[in-house]
Amino acid sequence: MDKILHIENLGKTYVQGHERILVLENIDFDIKAGEFVALLGPSGSGKSTFLNLVGVLDDCYSGSITLFGSRLEPLSEVKKAELRRRNIGFVFQFDSLLPEFTVLENIDMPALIMGRGDTGAAMALLKRFGLEMIAHKFPMDISGGEKQRAAILRALRNKPGLVIADEPTGNLDKHNAKIVLDDLKKVNAAGAAVLMVTHNEEASAYADRVFHLSGGRITAG
Ligand SMILES: Nc1ncnc2c1ncn2[C@@H]1O[C@H](COP(=O)(O)OP(=O)(O)O)[C@@H](O)[C@H]1O
Ligand SMILES: [Mg+2]
Repeated sequence: MDKILHIENLGKTYVQGHERILVLENIDFDIKAGEFVALLGPSGSGKSTFLNLVGVLDDCYSGSITLFGSRLEPLSEVKKAELRRRNIGFVFQFDSLLPEFTVLENIDMPALIMGRGDTGAAMALLKRFGLEMIAHKFPMDISGGEKQRAAILRALRNKPGLVIADEPTGNLDKHNAKIVLDDLKKVNAAGAAVLMVTHNEEASAYADRVFHLSGGRITAG
């Protein structure tokens, strides 16, 4: 399969009381298997809104989204959730690890939810990224950079074809941001497509293609 994401004429409007906020309009967009795509845009331009739609976290939109060969609109909630769990890994800007579980348990969580938990496989991921020393620590006992790196490994746990990262370096200093970006590059080199939203112009140096979101539209370059 070549295209893993195909979007046609995507639109999104938030309704708040009597107010309608048009955030995305007329967007056509594709991602091919194995690509690293960066999306830049000012705060409030709709980047997270876009990622939530692509990541099947929000199903209120106009237009059509096809993910891994399945058009989303006719699918039931259950089918959509399954498609998401099987194919998509998420990395968020803010710390999203569960505080009452160790790093190892957090990383294994997506597999556990699918009924195939295996901390051995989670440990293998930690080793692959040179992070086995934090396996048995709790989130409150590791650094911000380590938290994001653990979140990336959690996103990889079900071997997704697409990793969606929403400003994964937004809360990190330069040094840690580079480590996290290098991890994402490694994820990509291992075969997963990456769709990353960032404020950081430098981060686009990691991407095969760069897009800008503003005024509700996505433009290349
Ligand atoms: N749940 C919501 N209800 C109403 N408006 C929202 C909601 N989420 C986001 N918005 C608005 O949509 C616009 C885009 O937000 P967002 O996608 O978070 O932008 P970005 O991630 O680029 O900073 C903003 O004007 C924001 O206030
Ligand atoms: Mg955002």
